[in-house]
Amino acid sequence: MSVASVSDRDALHLVHLDALQQAYAEHLEAAGHDALWIYSGTPRQHYADDQAATFRAYGHFVHWAPLPELSHSWLLIRPGQRPLLQIHAPDDFWHLPARCPDAAWSQAFEIRLSDEMTPPACPARRRAVIGDLDAEQAEAMGATLNPPALLAALDHGRLHKNAHEQACLIDANRTALAGHVAAQQAFESGASELDIHLAYLAASRQRESSLPYDSIVGLNRHAGVLHYQHYEQAVPVERRSLLVDAGQRELGYCADITRTWAGPGAPDLFVSLLASMQTLHQRLVAACAPGVAFVELHRQMHHELAQLLIEHGVLRCSAEAAVDAGLTRAFCPHGLGHSLGIQVHDVGGRQDDDGAPLPPPASDPALRLTRTLTPNMVVTIEPGCYVIPMLLEPLRRGAEAAQIDWTLVERLAPCGGIRLEDNVAITATGQHNLTEVADNVH
Ligand code: GLY
Ligand code: MN
Ligand code: MN
Repeated sequence: MSVASVSDRDALHLVHLDALQQAYAEHLEAAGHDALWIYSGTPRQHYADDQAATFRAYGHFVHWAPLPELSHSWLLIRPGQRPLLQIHAPDDFWHLPARCPDAAWSQAFEIRLSDEMTPPACPARRRAVIGDLDAEQAEAMGATLNPPALLAALDHGRLHKNAHEQACLIDANRTALAGHVAAQQAFESGASELDIHLAYLAASRQRESSLPYDSIVGLNRHAGVLHYQHYEQAVPVERRSLLVDAGQRELGYCADITRTWAGPGAPDLFVSLLASMQTLHQRLVAACAPGVAFVELHRQMHHELAQLLIEHGVLRCSAEAAVDAGLTRAFCPHGLGHSLGIQVHDVGGRQDDDGAPLPPPASDPALRLTRTLTPNMVVTIEPGCYVIPMLLEPLRRGAEAAQIDWTLVERLAPCGGIRLEDNVAITATGQHNLTEVADNVH
């Protein structure tokens, strides 16, 4: 494919599409298929209404076509032929019909606008289809639906991010960071959760339905609810803490960034714990390198979290004893991080190179990445420390109660918790913090 007369970024995008063409040809041959349909998906309609739930197109579709909001559309992949992109664009006076994209990447496709939701015809004999559709639809198409070995290979192909994908992730980080700066300023000026959320959206130039995930904006105790989902309009009397976990998408690729700030009402203990967590976060980012088993890095987080809680007087036992007794898992029940890409929790993180499952350890069921790090993986590093009553109360009543200073826990509880999250690309020798890169590139 000629990449003349396009920008460097467009050229990288076309290289990405060339690589996909080649990889799919190999995977289809290995799976015994001559052609593959990829369906972008169907929005879920609300009962008896013409409104639908927020829609996100199928990840493998977006890997090819950077149109994460495009529904009812199809890709047809045939080795040796240009991929066919059929865009659903019916005549419609209620909505603005989709248009033919004219970005440089579109030259890699044969593009058709169609008022049909049905797939483009394909004469190939051995056909497969992937996406969110049911067995009857696949049968009517004469295609094998979601073949597991093919999906495992395609998921694995999304684990490592090429130059185009990393550039998109940096752009997404840059725009998301502008939102985080605005959120911090709104917090400092005494805004409510809702107004902080709106400040984030405005500064990161996006509408709510195009966020990669619902932003988490928690003041005070709400910072301890891992996926806190409300936006209170009232301003709390005391401003102790704010946790914002919010992202942005660039050509389908997601940023996933978390920041925590202490407010004027925060106790000194929370302020110093936050500073220690920031140092721990930086150490964990710096530890990312090829050959590092992510499960081990996750264990390191627990060990260092235990030490940190001991230093601050919250725990009164050895770090080993705290980790072994599950105390740190009560303070941080989520994983250290996950693969990041077209999906915030991207695919391929819990399987080996041959597609065999790599389940998380029984002690860490929420860990979404169980592989050893290799160059060009992009992961989040997001240690946390929370006061979650549901997890701590059983310890208060149990044999471990004496190992925890409950007075200090009570002092921290009104601040909810701390999470710090950056997006990190693994390089040949170490790591590249894409969130810091984005902060420095304007
Ligand atoms: N924003 C969801 C997560 O950090 O995994
Ligand atoms: Mn994350
Ligand atoms: Mn996050």
